[in-house]
Order: sequence, then structure tokens, then C-alpha cells
Amino acid sequence: MSTGLFAFAESLGPAQALAQAAGLACHAVEVSRFPDGESLVRVPASAPTAILYRSLDHPNAKLIELVLAAAALRDGGAQRVVLVAPYLGYMRQDIAFRPGEAVSQKVIGALLADHFDGLVTIDPHLHRIARLDEAVPRIPALALTAAPVLAKALAGEAERPVLIGPDSESRPWVEAVAAPGGLDVLVGEKQRHGPRSVEIAIAGIEAVRGRPVVLVDDVISSGGTMIAAAGLLRAAGATRISALATHCLASPDDLARLASAGIAPVRATCSVPGTAGSLPIAALLADGLREGGWLRA
Ligand code: R5P
Repeated sequence: MSTGLFAFAESLGPAQALAQAAGLACHAVEVSRFPDGESLVRVPASAPTAILYRSLDHPNAKLIELVLAAAALRDGGAQRVVLVAPYLGYMRQDIAFRPGEAVSQKVIGALLADHFDGLVTIDPHLHRIARLDEAVPRIPALALTAAPVLAKALAGEAERPVLIGPDSESRPWVEAVAAPGGLDVLVGEKQRHGPRSVEIAIAGIEAVRGRPVVLVDDVISSGGTMIAAAGLLRAAGATRISALATHCLASPDDLARLASAGIAPVRATCSVPGTAGSLPIAALLADGLREGGWLRA
């Protein structure tokens, strides 16, 4: 076996789908915990090119276990270890917003570059930088986009919706999702007052009167952004409000709040295990691995 795929328990389903799309064997990485909370990581095999699959939501313990797994794969003979992290955490803190804050994007990007020979991710939140390799230096780092997957999810809609980007950062995603179907787009401006408190204004919002709308973003975290935008859109006369995102980090309580706000359905890719996301990404990731030269074409 020249290339093998290795996945942690929470990602086994999507990792097996990727293994099938890429024609690879998929092996489960075993993790157990010592009483003091340390992780014991064991890989059941290795391969000259080892592809390690894990999304970095709730990333703290996951990062340590990834570093341990990469080392075990190298000890087992891997010459290169490539990380497939469909959701790449720690990308949003890209500056010190207040004096003394760590710039997590830079720190975690450098940590990944120290332990992996390549990285594949989907729609990382790069706000103030243009390219992923500015955040993850020294190694080939590939940022794929789920826009075609999201656009396909909209293709069956009976009535053409207006796509709404809730803030200026969402513009690239909402425009890319709208393009294949030539859908109308509105993009808002957001002010964040706290982790769950945002204020949004959407210029031209009167255009949604009598029409269904779909809120589009790279990530739904607490859902606060979507809920604030939905309030404005309902008041402006939108007939139906749904949400579409690459990554859904929302907890069951957050999802219940989105439902109470009348946002349904909430659709996202399966990049974050255990959430509402189910749109498939295996073919996209397999293409990315080929593009990076980590899989035979
Ligand atoms: C931020 O700029 C992102 O694009 C999302 O809008 C944000 O992370 C969503 O967070 P939340 O769901 O907590 O409002």
C-alpha cells in the first residue's frame, strides 16, 4: 500500500466516503485516555504517503492527537503525512483584536506546518489574508471551495431564491454559490458586539418582499449571525428563510434557536461531524488530493 487514509473515530463515515472516492483503504486511528486526561494514540498501520483525516472543530484535544498520530505514522514508515481537515479551526483569530491576545491563526498554522507535509481543507476563514499558505507556511496548503456543492443543493428549489450574505466577509461565498444558477444576491454589513451578539444592516433589502431567501455563509457557529439576518428579512417580507453554509458548528441548542427563528432547513456539508451538515464532500476532497499530487490522477 503506497497511500493509506487514516481517520479518527468521529470522522470515520466521511473518511470512508473519501477512501472510496479516492480508491484508498481507510484505517481507524485508535485513541484512549489516561485517567489524567492524556491521550494515547495508536495507528494500526502506516503507508509511505499517509493521509490523516480530521476536522478541527473543538480543536484543542484534536490537535494534540493529530500531532501524535502524525508521529506514529512516521515511526511506522510514512515519508509524507498529509492532513485532510475539512474544517480548519483557529482561522478566525487572525489579528490581536485586543492588546495581549494570541494570533491563533498564525500559531496553529505554524504548528500544522511543523508536523504535516501537506494540508487540504475547505473554505477556510481567511479574512485579512488572500491565501492559505500565508496562514500555514512552508508546506503545500490547498483551500478547496464547497461552492459547487452548495450550488447543487439549491438546484432543485421550485422558486428561485434571493441569496443573502449576512456580512461583507461572506461575499465571495455567496457570489460563488449564486453564479451557476444566476441567482440574485444581497450582502449585508455586520457589527459584532460579542460572541452571540451581532447587528446587521442589508442595503436593498426591500428586494426580498414576496420572495424566498437563502442565507449563505462559510460557517454557522452560534447561529447568531443567521438569526439576526433572518429577523430583518422577515420584517422586509421574505416568504421563506433557509440557511446554507460550508461548515455547521452549531450545537443542538443553537440549531433549536435557528429553528425557533423560522430558519429552515439549515443545510451544510458534512465537514463537521455530529452536526446538521450532510452535503457530501468526498468527491471534492478526492479531487483536492489529486490536485495536490498526493493521489494518482
Ligand atoms: C464570520 O465572519 C463568519 O463568516 C460567520 O459569519 C460567523 O463565524 C458566524 O458566527 P455565528 O454563527 O456565531 O454568528
